[in-house]
This record gives sequence, structure tokens and C-alpha cells, in this order.
Amino acid sequence: MKEQLTVRTTGQIIHISNGKEEKNIEVLNRNLVRVYKEKNSEELVKLHYEDNKEAVEVKTDKTETSVVISFDDYQIFADEKLNISIQKDNRLYFEEYTGDTAIYVEEKEFSLAALEGHKHDESLASFKTQINITLFDKEDKIYGLGDKAAQLNKRDYEYISWNTDDPSQHNETYKSLYKSINYLLVNHHKDSYYGIFYPSSYKCIFNIGRYSDKFMYIGSEKGEYDYFILLGSTPMEITKIYAALVGHTLFTPRKMLGYHQSRWSYNAKEMEEIREKFAQYQIPIDYIHLDIDYMERYKVYTVKKEEFPDLKGMADRFEKEGIDFIPIIDPGVKVEEGYDFYEYLKEHDGFATLEGEQYVNQVWPGDSKYPNYFKTKTAQYITDITKKFMAEYKVKGIWCDMNEPASFNGPLPNEVEFPSDSAMHYHEEVHNLYGEYMTRAIAKAFEEENKRPIVITRAAFATTSPFTTTWNGDNQSLWSHLEASLPQVMTMNICNFAVNGVDIGGFGNETTKELLIRWMEANMFSLFLRNHSALHTRKQEPYAFDDETLQIYKKMLVLRYEFLPYLYDLLENAHTTGIPAQRPLFFNYPADERTKQINDEVMIGDTILFAPVTQQGKTSRAVYLPEGKWIHYFTKEEYEGGKEYLIDMPLDSTGIFIKAGAIIPMYKNLLHIDNQKLDTLYLYVEKDGDSEYMHYEDDGETLNYQKGVYNRYQITKKGNKLSFKTVTANYASNYKEIVILSNGTEKRIPFAEEFECELN
Ligand code: GLC
Repeated sequence: MKEQLTVRTTGQIIHISNGKEEKNIEVLNRNLVRVYKEKNSEELVKLHYEDNKEAVEVKTDKTETSVVISFDDYQIFADEKLNISIQKDNRLYFEEYTGDTAIYVEEKEFSLAALEGHKHDESLASFKTQINITLFDKEDKIYGLGDKAAQLNKRDYEYISWNTDDPSQHNETYKSLYKSINYLLVNHHKDSYYGIFYPSSYKCIFNIGRYSDKFMYIGSEKGEYDYFILLGSTPMEITKIYAALVGHTLFTPRKMLGYHQSRWSYNAKEMEEIREKFAQYQIPIDYIHLDIDYMERYKVYTVKKEEFPDLKGMADRFEKEGIDFIPIIDPGVKVEEGYDFYEYLKEHDGFATLEGEQYVNQVWPGDSKYPNYFKTKTAQYITDITKKFMAEYKVKGIWCDMNEPASFNGPLPNEVEFPSDSAMHYHEEVHNLYGEYMTRAIAKAFEEENKRPIVITRAAFATTSPFTTTWNGDNQSLWSHLEASLPQVMTMNICNFAVNGVDIGGFGNETTKELLIRWMEANMFSLFLRNHSALHTRKQEPYAFDDETLQIYKKMLVLRYEFLPYLYDLLENAHTTGIPAQRPLFFNYPADERTKQINDEVMIGDTILFAPVTQQGKTSRAVYLPEGKWIHYFTKEEYEGGKEYLIDMPLDSTGIFIKAGAIIPMYKNLLHIDNQKLDTLYLYVEKDGDSEYMHYEDDGETLNYQKGVYNRYQITKKGNKLSFKTVTANYASNYKEIVILSNGTEKRIPFAEEFECELN
């Protein structure tokens, strides 16, 4: 006998049963639906679930063979097998795929190919959960998944969420990198968009139509059948919904947007040389990073005294010249009797265990144990020791590395135990969260002192961005890696990680003069801007080549510092609303089909289109400009949008296009970001067109902004009239003067809360 569908409702959760199993559909708010059989545990994957709940008028109808849940423009259907589909405005919007999901992969004898070194492309062997989703059309495009070294559109590829430290050459077929960001933004039928978020920290696979044009699937080894559908009309809207669910991106101190110089590993003499040379050549800089060799035999929270007899004194001296230090801290703790940090964690059950014994693997210090950040007491100890360490040596931030966690003596077994305060957890569940919990503990060291965290991490999960800045790990000095850096940083941004960047110049291998210059140019707008290289590689500081390299590198850095208040506004906006600071063109022009797969152009906010050269030997490139009028920032040439142009870009130039009428706040003559010295605000106003711009100002370092201590200025351009109006004024402004830059002229106006002026 055929079972009938039965429906129960608890608040906005609709439980539908077909007699065999139950599926639940929760309408959290009018843009967010959760579909689940069992929920994934939220003890460690902390979503902003409660904050997103909103009353919605939901209507449920039932026939014998289907259930229809309606709200706003959406209708969710469940059939007898409990498959879900969604219609929006009576058009199919989302569908769980119900056809044949058997995948045919040709199995051939491989041993001969293996002799030559070929490797089988491994996938997940088995999984408990498989969520199948219809691909409507060959033209569907699918974006997301964080740091993968791939193009924007992930269609036809397969990726695995399992944080992995592998420094070999990353490319688009590389399935796992350092981060696991289980978020997809789907575009179908040209103008329709939805988002999918899979909230499990277990290893999972995203097969995005790799073997089939008809469906994609999310498979999880141990995760539950439980996912979120993000409903909206535009990519911008969906990304905002996503950010609200996983937690908005960290608002870093303003200084973090400055330039970071790093190398594995500078000694004290080299650091002095950086200070001197940057001052001598007047190159902007804000941070120098200390890589692993500053430590005493790689023991975290120690300093090698022979190399740095007075690190605090040195940090003090550098600080006076505007440069702060950020040392690296890895999770692995050296097994060494008498080493206080080790002893404390050992005595206080602070390490992961295997069958009850503290677990040992190997990282830089040799035999090492892994702190269990999932236990509140251990995490608090790390917070406290971090505070103490920063105060003792006057270092201003912490760079967290190797927190996938990396291990040199084979992978950590799935069974390694990481108990939290209330439950036992095993490595297979916490692996993808390990980096996050390390950064949570370290970020807390700042928050407890009312400071915004200066934390940089390599490993992350989707929910990590409120705690940290990120970089994308060990790239190499390859043109292909420079090219990949643009879609990679854009994707990290649309996945809610605003302050993200790659190692400028490339980490592994030898960079070249041309590559270094083009790298600096192409990444000049990345919110995290760091030149970093591996030991034994060719040096790649801005002055490591010839004078031409130095001058071009400097020109780009000076420009980056000029755009600083614009970038800071974008960061504040990303933090507050979820709108990505840097984004693919289709975010701003979703109706323009040509923008959907442009990997080498970036929208920096709404009014800068950035199209750098990323290929060897090129001195010009094709640039597609969407509708509207655009002005080349260097040549001032005007271009009518909707077309592609061939633009000259000699070595000392890059493609910065400003939208006609744009207002861009700027600072000038900064060699370091000193929050107290930002007394002149420049307003660059591009000719033609009308526009509105909101500028934000605060102290740039504390958490006081959370109590409303900031200013907002609304700036409007209408014809040749510019009006400036303070709309929020809770912070004692630094500004004394405003300089309007328009049509190549300068107009100086003493700072006033409100004024109007004519533009030249
Ligand atoms: C890892 C990091 C790299 C660092 C090196 C030594 O490879 O990704 O940035 O320089 O370890 O600490």
C-alpha cells in the first residue's frame, strides 16, 4: 500500500514524512531555507543561526503526492520521495536531482602509466550523505569554494573539503588546499542565482558536474543530510545572506591594509636592512614578518636570544619608524622536558590524545604535540600566553601557520581525540576546524584588550572569517600562479574573507624582475598585501633587482596607499553588510553575460575596474568594460562601456579604470599608516556622471566602533556640484582639511561637517 505524505509544523519548520523517512524544511527567514534529515552538530561549527531567524508568513498545502510550502515569491515542493524543488515567480529555481546518479568512470589497468609516475586522481571512496542538485543547463555557472587555485567558475571540476598543506604547484585540478569553504553560488538560466551552504566539518566532496551535465553533488563521509539554500535575485544579495549566516568578515585595524614585507626567515640584520632601505628609498611599509627561525629551535612562544638579544628594544625602535612586527606561531609544540609552554599543556591535558595517550607527530621542531583548542581552558591558556608574548616582545600580531594541521610523519589518524568541554570529538570531525579554533584563541588575546585582531591564518573553515585575515599559502614564482591569484582572491572575497592575499612575487621558486613587477601591480588592491618568499629562493624585496623594478614597485605601492581610505571603506562595508570588497564583474553587472567568466578583471568596490597584466612579455591587453563610461586612471582616456578594448600597459602601467562621476576618498604622502596623522582627506572626483558615496572614519584600531564610535560622511556629486554632509558623528574626527581633486585641479577646504562646492 502506498504511504501518504504527512506534515507537521513546529514554528517555521515543516516536517514532512512519507512513512519511511522524514525531511525537514525550515524557513529561517525569507531568504534562507534549511533542508535536513538530521542536523549537523552546531557545537563546533558555529553558525549565526538564531540571529537569522525572522518571522515569515508560511503557508503549507498538501495533496496525496506532494506538499507545497509557500512564502513571498517562493514555492517549495516536496514529492513522495521527499525530493525538494523550489519555484520562484512560477519558474523552476532550485531542484534536488531525482534522475540516475550512477557515475560511470572508465576503469583501466593503471600500472603501466604508474611506471612513468602518473597518479590516479583520487576521489572520496564512500560517503554517508549525498545531496544531488540539478544542473539546469550547460551554461550554468558555479562559483565559490574559497582558496582553490582555479578560475572563478568551478563547473565541471571536483573539489574536496579537507584542509591540506601541500606546497607543490597548485592549479585548477588540485582538489584540496588549505581552506574548506563549503559555499557555492550558482547562476542558471542566465539571470537566476541561488546559494548553497553545507555546514559539516567532516571531509566532503563537491562534484560540480564533473561526470554529468545533469547534476552536481555534495558528498560527505560522515556529515548529515543538511544544507542551506540561500534565496535571492542577485549575487550581491546572496553573498550578504551567506555572510550573515557564517559570521561577517573580520574588521582588521586600518594598518593591516598597509604593506607587509616577509621572507622565510629574516634575521635581525636583514630586518635592519629593510628598515633602512625602505626609509632611504621612501617606500611605504607597515609590517615585517618574523618566520620560524626567530624561535629557539622552533619552540613556539620563545625567541632565539643569540639572534634577537633585544627583540623588544628592536620592536620599539621600528615602531617609532612606523613598522610593526608580526611573528609566526605554529600549533605544533615541541616535546621537550622543561619547556614551560609544553610542560603546562602536558600537565593540564591540553594536547590531543590517541587512545588516551598524548598524541605525537612531527613538524618543524621534530616530535610535537597538538594543542586541543576545542577545550575552553586550553584555548584560554593560549589566549593568555599570546597576550603575554606580545607584551613581552612588543610584537603586534600573530601569523598562524601549519594549522591544517600539518604533520610530517603521515596524516593524523581520524581517531585522534580532541575533546571539547562537553563532548568527545575526533580528528575526522575537527580537522577542517582546527585552524579556526587556533585563530579564535589568538584573536581573543586582542579582543580582551579592546583591540581588533591582527591574526593571519593559512587554514580556515567557512565560519573562520570573523577572527582572522588569510593568505593562500605556498604559491610559486610562476606566471600561472600570478594569473590564478586574481580569481583566487576574488573567490575568497565572495566567500566572505575580505582581507585576503597571496604571496607577492611567489613563495617557492625564483622570481624574475618582470614577474615581481607584474605581481605587485596585479595585487596592489588585495586587502592583505604581503611580499613573502621561501628560504633559498632569489630575494624579492622591492630593491632586490634594479632601479627600474624599485621605481615601478614603489609607484604601485604609493598608489595603493593613496587608495587606502577607499579600501578601508570597502572593508568596513564587507564587515557590516557582507558585500565583498573585491569581486568579479558579474557582481556589479549581473545582467551582462560577458561578465560571467572574466577571471582577469576585478571590481574594487563599485567604481574601480582593475585589469592588470599577468602574462610574461605583454605590454598591452584586452579589457572588457561593462556599460557606462570609464576613465583610464593614468592616461585619463575615456572609454564607452559594453565593449572590449586593447589597452597599452607597458611595464610601469596597469589597468585602473574609474567609473565616470565616481567619488574616491584618498590619503596622500603616507609611508606608514599612523591613525593619528590622517588629517587631510582627499576626494578624487571623476568627471561626468552623478554619484553618491559614503565615507567612514574611526580610530582604526580598537573595538570602539562596535559601540558606535565612528563617523559617516555622505558625499554627493550632481553635475558640477559636490556636497559633503556628516550623517553620523560619534568620533572626534582627525580631518582638518578636505582637498577636492577634480579635472587635474586641487581645491582646499577647511574641514566642516557640511559644505557644498563647485567642481572645476
Ligand atoms: C609554510 C608557510 C610559509 C612559511 C614556511 C616556514 O610553508 O606556508 O609561508 O614561510 O612554512 O614557516
